Amino acid sequence: MSVIFERRSVRSFLPKPVEPEKIERILRAGFEAPSAHNRRPWEFMVITAENDRKAIADMSPYAKMTASAAAAIIPCANLNLGNASGEEDTWWVQDLSAATENILLQIAEEELGGVWLGWYPDGTRVKAFSRHFSLPPHIVPFSVIALGYPAGPVKPADRFDPAKVHYGAYGNHSA
Ligand SMILES: Cc1cc2nc3c(=O)[nH]c(=O)nc-3n(C[C@H](O)[C@H](O)[C@H](O)COP(=O)(O)O)c2cc1C
Repeated sequence: MSVIFERRSVRSFLPKPVEPEKIERILRAGFEAPSAHNRRPWEFMVITAENDRKAIADMSPYAKMTASAAAAIIPCANLNLGNASGEEDTWWVQDLSAATENILLQIAEEELGGVWLGWYPDGTRVKAFSRHFSLPPHIVPFSVIALGYPAGPVKPADRFDPAKVHYGAYGNHSA
């Protein structure tokens, strides 16, 4: 079965570090994401230090598991590349989403667990992260991915919904 159908968000982790070679393969998956105009406007932060993970956990009410994760990967947008045609040029949001999903899929492929934590466009979270890590203004922390060895089994779910599929015309659910 493809890893796409096995991936689920994991929010509880074993107190066990993730091997650097696994982290590198996970990052490589991020770099392989599709990207508008092939700009690839991403950079990735890898955070393992406990004090930094705890600080990240405190920046969002929905990021507590980062404190007990083995690591956090933060796909960041480099706006010097992503905003090349000005403020209205926001294709980078989709580029960074694709990179985030590629990373989650490779995490599952490595038999690890991870969860996508929403950061951009929440200004408070973006500012708190940027301040803590002294990011230059053209670098935007887009998402936080907490990861590690899952503390329990990861249960797949079939979410296919034929009522949301339209063949040829809206409302036609049969092929
Ligand atoms: C943009 C985005 C933001 C998310 N933010 C959070 C978050 O802050 N905290 C969290 O625990 N899960 C977060 N999630 C994970 C979703 O809750 C999860 O993907 C959803 O419940 C579906 O479950 P699954 O990932 O197991 O398929 C986020 C997912 C996305 C795509």
